[in-house]
Amino acid sequence: VNESRTFPDDFLWGGAIAANQAEGAWNEDGKGVSIADVVRGGIISGVSDKEIDSDKYYPSHEAIDFYHKYKEDIALFKEMGFTLFRTSINWTRIFPNGDEKEPNEHGLEFYDNLFDELIKNGIEPMITISHYETPMHLVDAYGGWENRKLIDFFSRYCEVIFNRYKNKVKYWMTFNEVNNMHKIPFAAGACRIEDGPDKLQRVYQASHHMFVANAMAVKLGKEIMPENEVGCMLSLSAFYPNTCDPEDIFGAYQYRRRSLFFSDVMLRGKYPSYTDRILKEHNITIEKEEDDDALISENTCSFLAFSYYLTSTYKAGTPIFESTGGSMGYENPYLENSDFGWPIDPKGLRYVCNELYDRYEKPLFVVENGLGAKDTVSEDGKIHDDYRIEYVKKHLIEINEAIEDGCEILGYTYWGPIDIISAGSGQMQKRYGFIHVDKDDQGNGTLKRVKKDSFDWYKKVIASNGEEL
Ligand code: BG6
Repeated sequence: VNESRTFPDDFLWGGAIAANQAEGAWNEDGKGVSIADVVRGGIISGVSDKEIDSDKYYPSHEAIDFYHKYKEDIALFKEMGFTLFRTSINWTRIFPNGDEKEPNEHGLEFYDNLFDELIKNGIEPMITISHYETPMHLVDAYGGWENRKLIDFFSRYCEVIFNRYKNKVKYWMTFNEVNNMHKIPFAAGACRIEDGPDKLQRVYQASHHMFVANAMAVKLGKEIMPENEVGCMLSLSAFYPNTCDPEDIFGAYQYRRRSLFFSDVMLRGKYPSYTDRILKEHNITIEKEEDDDALISENTCSFLAFSYYLTSTYKAGTPIFESTGGSMGYENPYLENSDFGWPIDPKGLRYVCNELYDRYEKPLFVVENGLGAKDTVSEDGKIHDDYRIEYVKKHLIEINEAIEDGCEILGYTYWGPIDIISAGSGQMQKRYGFIHVDKDDQGNGTLKRVKKDSFDWYKKVIASNGEEL
């Protein structure tokens, strides 16, 4: 292990959240209903209510009230020394239903104010354009990304936000964890695709529409803000073969391709050669328009952003359908699990960085990594989260190793630097933050912010540009 741990001088340090998991204010200032606003058990669960029941608790409706408290929170991020902060623009603040012709000015103003506040504090905003918060109307009236019409709605949305924020936001990402289309099509693609014989046909068709939309966003980006970067974002927690049985090894390789397929298209600009066999074996026909392939090939993303939390293993005989992202395959006896059952594997992050840089030779951005844990407030009112410090430290050491290996890594945004609601369960008790928020799973609490021990530690890491871990 390299002891000196030099990170590049321009390495970007910060944290990442998503609008729907933090902002709250779900129906204020003209905001429409997003897919995250109709779920009570986490957007990833995909279980949504047809009508919002005002007697029930919906985690996104208030979340941690970042919408009203962002100044206080940004002051804390500044204190930690963030140079970058990743959040998403909630599509429904800009286009409440998704298919309007004109944007909602109040929503645009909110993000102007938010970005100005960040910039004023020396923090660059980084934006996810669509982070599991598609307008619900696009699901009800169009069927989400299964419908090609979404390409136009998304392009209009991109055009508006690129024009508006081109001088404030340099790094953009199109779809959060787009490879999760297989596993969680409601969150990732706003589609209600159940398991069934036509599932893969529908997933690949919807994904194609997203590839075209991604290319459109890159094209618009080049026209409207040529100095800025439009990247793609995938869930790329690693997957290993469970044993050295060649069947496990090749199976794991095939499985991983179900994820890398997405970055292959968006970074290399074409459907990879292994696609044909997948389509043939599953009777899938992707309907394309004449110019789709050219558009995709001429407009590839300039960087690859990804989330990394855990690793799992693949055993032969398991169907190879999904994405490897957060999949839970077979247990790895060499790893310990988090409080929430996620295997902790810092070395896997070095492995993934190398895997991705070898494949694409495009800059990488670690935009999500973190430990969701059951924190307790001690009698002294503090939160002693040395386990979180351990987790981040070990992962940063491996990022540094990957940089030494030759990978170009632009930055690190820790997931949930302030406690937010969980995408997986809607709970508050799965806490990632360096900052504690007083709120429980039923929505009770003062929303008061308190620094955890990890706060000062992360501050020291950033101040030393990663030398003091
Ligand atoms: C990623 C998502 O899948 O994992 C985030 O992009 C999410 O939105 C994060 O919050 C952690 O998952 P969870 O379920 O612990 O919130």
